[in-house]
Amino acid sequence: MCGIFGFVAAQNRHTSEVLTGLKFLEYRGYDSWGIAVAKDGEVESEKKTGAIAQATTRLPDSTAALGHTRWATHGGVTEANAHPHIDCKGRFAVIHNGIVENYHELGARLRPGHIFLSQTDTEVLVHLLEEEIECETDLLKALLTVFRQVEGLSAVAVLDAHTGQVAVAKNGSPIALGWADGAVYLASDANALLDHTRRIHFLDDGNAAALTPDGIRVYNAQSGQPIIPEVRNVTWDVRHSGLEGHTHFMSKEIHEQPRVLREIAERKRAEAVALAQVIGEARDVYLIGCGTAYHAAMQGRYLLAELGGKSSTVAAASELNLILPLLDADSLVVAFSQSGETIDVLEAAREARGRGARIAALVNAEGSALDRMADLSVLLGCGPERCVLSTKSYTAKLAILHMAARGLVGEVERGAAEVHDAGFRLESLFEREAKQGTIRDTARRITDHQHLFILGRHRNYPLALEAALKIKEVSYLHAEGFAAGELKHGVIALITHGTPCLILAPDDDFRHEALAAASEVHARGAFTVGFSPRPESEFDVTLPVSCSVSAPYEISATAQLLAYELALLRGCDPDKPRNLAKSVTVK
Ligand code: F6R
Repeated sequence: MCGIFGFVAAQNRHTSEVLTGLKFLEYRGYDSWGIAVAKDGEVESEKKTGAIAQATTRLPDSTAALGHTRWATHGGVTEANAHPHIDCKGRFAVIHNGIVENYHELGARLRPGHIFLSQTDTEVLVHLLEEEIECETDLLKALLTVFRQVEGLSAVAVLDAHTGQVAVAKNGSPIALGWADGAVYLASDANALLDHTRRIHFLDDGNAAALTPDGIRVYNAQSGQPIIPEVRNVTWDVRHSGLEGHTHFMSKEIHEQPRVLREIAERKRAEAVALAQVIGEARDVYLIGCGTAYHAAMQGRYLLAELGGKSSTVAAASELNLILPLLDADSLVVAFSQSGETIDVLEAAREARGRGARIAALVNAEGSALDRMADLSVLLGCGPERCVLSTKSYTAKLAILHMAARGLVGEVERGAAEVHDAGFRLESLFEREAKQGTIRDTARRITDHQHLFILGRHRNYPLALEAALKIKEVSYLHAEGFAAGELKHGVIALITHGTPCLILAPDDDFRHEALAAASEVHARGAFTVGFSPRPESEFDVTLPVSCSVSAPYEISATAQLLAYELALLRGCDPDKPRNLAKSVTVK
């Protein structure tokens, strides 16, 4: 939700550095973008709506610059509403990630005469700062006086064109600070800094920082007391961060899954055992996440029960309130999150910890808030996910839980072998699709429909939900996943001639029930697509999945490819679906 990138340097630097940083952060918000630089004591800025990918900047080089990619919350997608926002005298540029909940009230505190150019909640901050600097000349102190009045979770950064300094304060939304030769940087995602530095501090909530050519000073935002920042030498690998021959990141990240699975099998055994241990020790285990991560948690519940004999409870992180009173020191909350910054997950984990529960995390983004707060953090290690949709990180979460579930009964090696095998099976699936195009052909037969239903029984039910989410969010085709057993209790009323129905029917104990559901919708004219090891009379089309424990991985990858093909056929941008942002850091 909004990307922030900026620098302060001793000598002029190319403003295109900010543009490049913002291009990396585009996944965080892509409705508009803007950059401000300090030039001869004044702010010069440039703002645009639409995609940043091909953009260039006409701004001059500078010693201080701040940029922003926006995901609109308050005010439509216009150049005026794009950040940065500038004060009336042209000295300060403010950018912001989050929501200023009390912006009306703050606006009423201003002296009359300020000129507002946007409809955003953010702009009030720059005018407050403009007044504050009249009494408090230190930029950071002035920012903190303003920041302490703000209600809501935010990260706010300001550029002062008079002094060439930048200050930032946050109580939500990630900020990484980096030290490089002759310059210091800030960004919403540490990966955006790796072209410049690997010496990084992750600013904690409730802290603030002043960036000058001499370095970075960190403070507690409430007390103003200095803090010695913990500087990490980041070593993680961003090898796989380009498109590598694919047209979209979605396609690239789907096709990376065989490698991701093999690497998890080879490198994550010890972490799976550690996870199994904390799961095994807990009296109650709660699995939480949002969206696709929630679906991974749902799938995890089946894995823990069936492979590890451990029961658990699953909840959408935003709905944890119901079970919060049940948590105590014998409870374990396993939080699933690609970004590690999803506000509902972080709040749920904090509340759970407040009740004494231990927190384990399955998280992709190293250094994220969830990674840093968890008692045990298992990093997925699947590389940056640049498409807004989660694909490889979903699969990685299943794989680690799969190994941990086997680990509960002392069989982590068996789990690793199964995950390894699943990697090879996905590779075959992709090779077969490249030659035969069956999934693409199926997408062609579905693409003109309004509605699509996906039926799965037992452990295939969460897969049906996840397949439906992938299809609807990327192709805008209305797709719903259902428990096959629920079909006759209402859903069947929606089936008419030609309605596409995907039936998840791998070779498991519940296949006959999936086939019965297929037969019932087929009899009512549905166009049936079986995800099945072999064709059946109930299926108009069969998309093959094997007869092994890797079937869930194959079902999910097949659905991901189908969603991708539907997006292309329906003219949608798979990497940047409308209205979505990769990391949901506001409520
Ligand atoms: C769907 C998708 C979202 C995320 C959800 C949680 O493809 O990507 O549903 O899964 O917003 O995000 P993380 O995993 O970062 O907590």
